[in-house]
Order: sequence, then C-alpha cells, then structure tokens
Amino acid sequence: MEPHRAVLLLILVSFVPRTIIADCSADRGDVEMHQEAKLHHDILQSYNTYRPVKDHKTTVTVKIRFALKYISFDPLEEIFTVHSWVAMTWKDEYLNWDPTCYDNIKELQIESHEIWTPRMSLFNADASMYPSDSIYTTCLLDSDGTVTCVPQVAHSGICRSSLRSWPYDIQNCTFYFGSWMHTGEQVNFTFYKNKPVVLDDYQNGPGWKLLNVTNDRLPGSYSCCPNSTYPMLKYTFMLKREAGGPAAIVVIPSVVIVLLTVISLLLDVKDCTRLFLLCFSLFSHFTFLSEIGYDIPKHSSDTPIILLFLRDSMVITLVGILLTLLLMSLRKRILPAPLWVVSMNRMITSGPGKYAVFTEFDPSESTDVKVLTEDSSSGNLDDKARITADWIQLANILNSFVFIVIFIIYFILICVYIPKDD
Ligand SMILES: *[C@@H]1O[C@H](CO)[C@@H](O)[C@H](O)[C@H]1NC(C)=O
Ligand SMILES: *[C@@H]1O[C@H](CO)[C@@H](O)[C@H](O)[C@H]1NC(C)=O
Ligand SMILES: *[C@@H]1O[C@H](CO)[C@@H](O)[C@H](O)[C@H]1NC(C)=O
Ligand SMILES: *[C@@H]1O[C@H](CO)[C@@H](O)[C@H](O)[C@H]1NC(C)=O
Repeated sequence: MEPHRAVLLLILVSFVPRTIIADCSADRGDVEMHQEAKLHHDILQSYNTYRPVKDHKTTVTVKIRFALKYISFDPLEEIFTVHSWVAMTWKDEYLNWDPTCYDNIKELQIESHEIWTPRMSLFNADASMYPSDSIYTTCLLDSDGTVTCVPQVAHSGICRSSLRSWPYDIQNCTFYFGSWMHTGEQVNFTFYKNKPVVLDDYQNGPGWKLLNVTNDRLPGSYSCCPNSTYPMLKYTFMLKREAGGPAAIVVIPSVVIVLLTVISLLLDVKDCTRLFLLCFSLFSHFTFLSEIGYDIPKHSSDTPIILLFLRDSMVITLVGILLTLLLMSLRKRILPAPLWVVSMNRMITSGPGKYAVFTEFDPSESTDVKVLTEDSSSGNLDDKARITADWIQLANILNSFVFIVIFIIYFILICVYIPKDD
C-alpha cells in the first residue's frame, strides 16, 4: 500500500505543473472564439476610421431621425435645449460579411468609437454648452454594411424670442444641423423617408408646450462653388408658453385696476374717496410694471404689448387724478362763475347734450358747513348756493366729458394692447 501511494503522489505532482505550463504556452491567437467575437475580430482587423467608401468620389448618405424626449427653453438667456434620441443610418462599405461563413449571424453590436461615425454639428449651437459632435454609443451593424447608431443627445442652441404678446406668446426655435468639414458630396445628411421626427415619448418642459415640429432640408448650393453643396437639416420647433401663471399674476389684475380707475371717475369729488382710489390705482400700475419687468428678458427685441398697455393706463390714471384735483377746487370756488361758464352750462343742459352729462355731484356742502351757513342771512345763502351750483354744473360737464374720452381710449387700448389667448 505505502509504495503505491508514493508512486501515485509522484505521478500527480509531476503531472500537475506540466498541464499548467501547457495552458500558459497556448497561443492566444488560436483561442477558440465564438462566431460573433470572431466576426467582430475579422471585420475590424484592418479597419480604418476614415470615410468608409472604396472610391473617394462616392457619397455617404446619412439618414437622420429625431425621437424627441424633452425640451426646455430659458427665455431670459434665450437658450433652447432639445433632449432626443437621434437615429443615424448609413452604409459602411468595409463592414459587410457573408452570414453563411459566420453561423448565419446577420447583425452585430459594435462600439461607435471603433468605426467611422458621421459628425453632425448644430450650427446655431450655444457654444458655452455644446460638448462635441462625436457620439459615444453602441451601434447595430447589418451584414450588408448598414450601420445604425442611436445616441442620446442634448442640443442647446440660441433662439431669439419675440415677446409681443407675452404671456400668450408663441416662439419659433430653429436648429440647423450639418457637417462641419464634409461637403454634401462626401457626407449627405438626409431625413428618414417616413417619420423624420418622432414624438411618441415626448414630454413638455417646464412652462412650455410643443405645438409643432417641422423639418426641411436646405440644399446649400452657392454660386461660389458649383461642384460642392453644403446641405443643412433645418428643424423648427413651435413652442407656446404655459400662460396660466403670468395671466393670473399680471393680465387679470391689470384689467382689475383699469376697472378701478374707470369706476373711480364716476364718484363724487365731495370727499377724498375718489382721490384715494385713483392714487391706489396709480401705485398698482407701478407695481405691475415692475412685476413684468422681473419676468421678461430686458433686452428682448420687441416690447410686450401688456407693458405698453400699463404704461398708457398709468398716464390715464394720472390724468384722472389731476382732473379730480381740478374738480375739487372748482366746487370750493366762492367767486361767481363768469358769464361764458353760465351760458355754456345752460346751452349744454337745455340741448341734447344733457343726456351726455350723467354724473351728478352733490351740490350741498358737507354737514358742518351747512350748520354754519344756516346762521347767515338768507340772501347771502341763496347767492352762495347759486354760485356753487354753477361751478358744480361745470364740474359735472367736465367730468362726464373726460369720462367719455377716457372710456373710449380704454376701449381702444384693450382691443389693441391686451394680449389674447388664441
Ligand atoms: C412661427 O412660425 C409659424 C409658422 O411657420 C408662423 O405662422 C408664426 O408667425 C411664427 N411665429 C413667430 C413668432 O415667428
Ligand atoms: C443628398 O440627398 C438628397 C435628398 O435625399 C438628394 O436630393 C441629393 O441629390 C443628395 N446629394 C448628393 C450629392 O448625393
Ligand atoms: C405643423 O405645421 C405644418 C406647417 O405649418 C403643418 O402642415 C402641419 O399640419 C402642422 N402639424 C401639426 C401636428 O400641427
Ligand atoms: C466643376 O466640375 C467641372 C467638371 O467636372 C470642372 O470643369 C470645373 O472646373 C469644376 N469647377 C470648380 C469650381 O471646381
């Protein structure tokens, strides 16, 4: 038993290292690879990442499809960002194989950095954010050499905003894509024939709603270079502002303070209520103007019309305050009215003009004054009442006239300057 065991051990000890040596010395090149790895190895063996055509005059046609995921727009900085999956398909003349030689494998995954990929640049990119036009993803390779890559990309570009009808504005943002270094004869970017833009998984960004995306191919032929074209793919995104918030904060309150101004002009000037209301309205105008000032870009090319409306309304309110002060001083007059005032009053109140005078100010003085005047002689009292009546009639006529004018001006302003949601 003993010697047997020793022999067995010896055999084992001497055998084990030998197998290890055999493994180490194995030539890695001959390692058994499965067919997919072998195919990958074979097609990349002498691959060159230059433009993948056998004749340099051949065009590589790259088809593009955008699957939009998310859009954001910063109107203060005028930067528009589109997050999307960009499907690109082209034919690589060096990446085809015969499936029968490789166990009928018809498709292969390949890393984008191992092969040539088209460089699609955004021409109106925001240079501070734009990373690079090369893509990093895994692509799908077909046995006839068709390569499909779907990188996930965020493109940021400059988009001038026009704020005329703020907050019900619609912005058109346009992106221009093309090749930075190749002509259209070398790399031809085109759209997929069906569904060049896919919106299936799209979500709206904060504050904006995407209305429509249109795509267009600009051929890019210039008189300078008849033999070359510089085509561009143009995408126009139509965005609508979600106006609920700004409308609640600014548009509806603007209408309210306008109503306040108009109604104040119907009040009697006997006490100070009318003056207070008008001053409050003037103050509100300032507040809304500065509120809108926070919300909109300061350097936008056109002024929001609601801003012009508030500006004009502020001037009207100021006119209302000045009118009120004038009327208050008229009713305190103790000098008899000049003859032309009396005859004008009579002419207006006796003719059809009397229907236009609809404000009726209280001719009596406030109560304490009345108590005082009761002590005075009756003749004096009559005189005084007549004088006051003349002036108050003038005040009524003036107030009605100014009210009608202001009402018409506001009507025009509201029609022209209040932004509407279409
Ligand atoms: C946006 O484009 C549409 C359709 O092309 C056009 O009707 C609209 O006026 C444009 N809006 C702006 C603000 O340019
Ligand atoms: C590029 O593609 C467009 C549209 O598919 C086509 O009209 C144009 O002739 C192509 N240009 C070249 C140089 O092949
Ligand atoms: C987008 O706009 C184009 C051109 O203005 C129009 O033909 C198309 O019907 C619109 N699409 C949608 C979904 O509104
Ligand atoms: C364009 O091509 C034509 C013919 O191939 C050639 O005669 C002509 O000189 C070329 N023009 C330019 C500007 O290269």
